[in-house]
Amino acid sequence: MSYSSIARFYKLIESVTIGRPLLDARLAHLKCLAEGPAIQHALLVGEGNGSFLLPFAQQFPNTLITVLDESPAMLRVAQNRLKAAGIDTARITFRQADMTTEQLPEGRYDLIVTLFFFDNFDAATVQQIVPALEHASSPSAQWILSDFQIPASGWRRLRARIWLTILYAFFRCVAKIPARTVPPAEAILATTSFKQVARKTYSAEMLYSTLYERV
Ligand SMILES: C[S@@+](CC[C@H](N)C(=O)[O-])C[C@H]1O[C@@H](n2cnc3c(N)ncnc32)[C@H](O)[C@@H]1O
Repeated sequence: MSYSSIARFYKLIESVTIGRPLLDARLAHLKCLAEGPAIQHALLVGEGNGSFLLPFAQQFPNTLITVLDESPAMLRVAQNRLKAAGIDTARITFRQADMTTEQLPEGRYDLIVTLFFFDNFDAATVQQIVPALEHASSPSAQWILSDFQIPASGWRRLRARIWLTILYAFFRCVAKIPARTVPPAEAILATTSFKQVARKTYSAEMLYSTLYERV
């Protein structure tokens, strides 16, 4: 899989497809995070072009941030966006790595962020990544998960199925993603020490954003 060939066009692709609700889903819990305990060190996995990173870095000026992505081009785009916004990147580590094999330090991060990341993988791979991220989380960590879902019934279900068919065909072709459908990321997270504390949906329930706390 590689997103590098589309890194520069990713924002455009987003704006001509689902558009603004994607950003709304990413930022759904920022206010809640700001009202909670101080975040020392956040890990953003598969962050892509920095759509979450930029507002997060602006709103949390004292948080150390590690951005992990396997695409060097995506990391560059994200870095350039921060520089253009005048953000000091000294506290931000950009790490090019494959999360399916990466060994993360135990208990390091008090915020894990996985936005539209698990939809690239099959369920077995998500089942392998989630415990690795849990292992890297501090005892009181929080986790933000956003992704696609197929609503239970009605026109929303039909609409989501059409969109997901189009999006999977596109990303399988241009980014060579292995997945064919959305994996059950929430069900997998439900088997961990993280418990859901808030959940919102967007774009006629096709997108969800969930905030978890470790218990
Ligand atoms: C669909 S994009 C999502 C980007 C961003 N989080 C967003 O909300 O739009 C998936 C991102 O995950 C990265 N990625 C894919 N496989 C990865 C892996 N095995 N390890 C780390 N990053 C990966 C891609 O390079 C890409 O930037």
